[in-house]
Amino acid sequence: MITYEDVKNNADIRALIEASGQALGVMGITDHGFAHAELSAVNAGRLLETLDYDPHTCELAKIAGFMHDIGNAVNRTFHAMSGGLLAFDILRSMGATTKDAISIMTAIGNHDEGTAATVTPLCAALILADKSDVRRSRVRAHEPYLDIHDRVNYAAVDSSLSVNKEKGIISLQLKIDTTICAVMDYFEIFLTRMTLCRDAAEFLGLKFELVINETRML
Ligand SMILES: [Fe+2]
Ligand SMILES: [Fe+2]
Repeated sequence: MITYEDVKNNADIRALIEASGQALGVMGITDHGFAHAELSAVNAGRLLETLDYDPHTCELAKIAGFMHDIGNAVNRTFHAMSGGLLAFDILRSMGATTKDAISIMTAIGNHDEGTAATVTPLCAALILADKSDVRRSRVRAHEPYLDIHDRVNYAAVDSSLSVNKEKGIISLQLKIDTTICAVMDYFEIFLTRMTLCRDAAEFLGLKFELVINETRML
């Protein structure tokens, strides 16, 4: 079995993440480089661990999290699909079983809003981990060139994803600087994402909560 560590150290995967980050940087899109890859990996793995999934599934979630945006090196449009296909081939060439490579391909192929569908626990974990990465350091534009996406990310001074297993709740807690972005702006941008998170949470048997500045919004 291949591990998250193997994937993190694979030169092709690292080159794809770097190229994805660069391409999106040119397009002025928020950071999709190593920090986003690692955070998504850690959060996806931790989420399934908390829910007592077996170690193998948790490892696959971490791998999917790390690799999920590599398709941006092909094209931003349909990057989930191109990324899933790329991941399948790379993982097979690294010695992953067909079944594991398919699991990761399905998760990656279903992470982007618009085309996402929560069809497996790995998909659910990846969606929740990816969509909850909202933070100031992802913004690459500078004032006064911040668009609404940038403002929403820039305004997020703190974000965390936590699970309360006893209550069956997964909660995304955000601290937003409202001098930069109104809570309404956040909703405008994130409504589709939050709907996706809610569906993903339900798939895992959890209720999704969005808490902004200590007020429950969803
Ligand atoms: Fe993505
Ligand atoms: Fe992502």
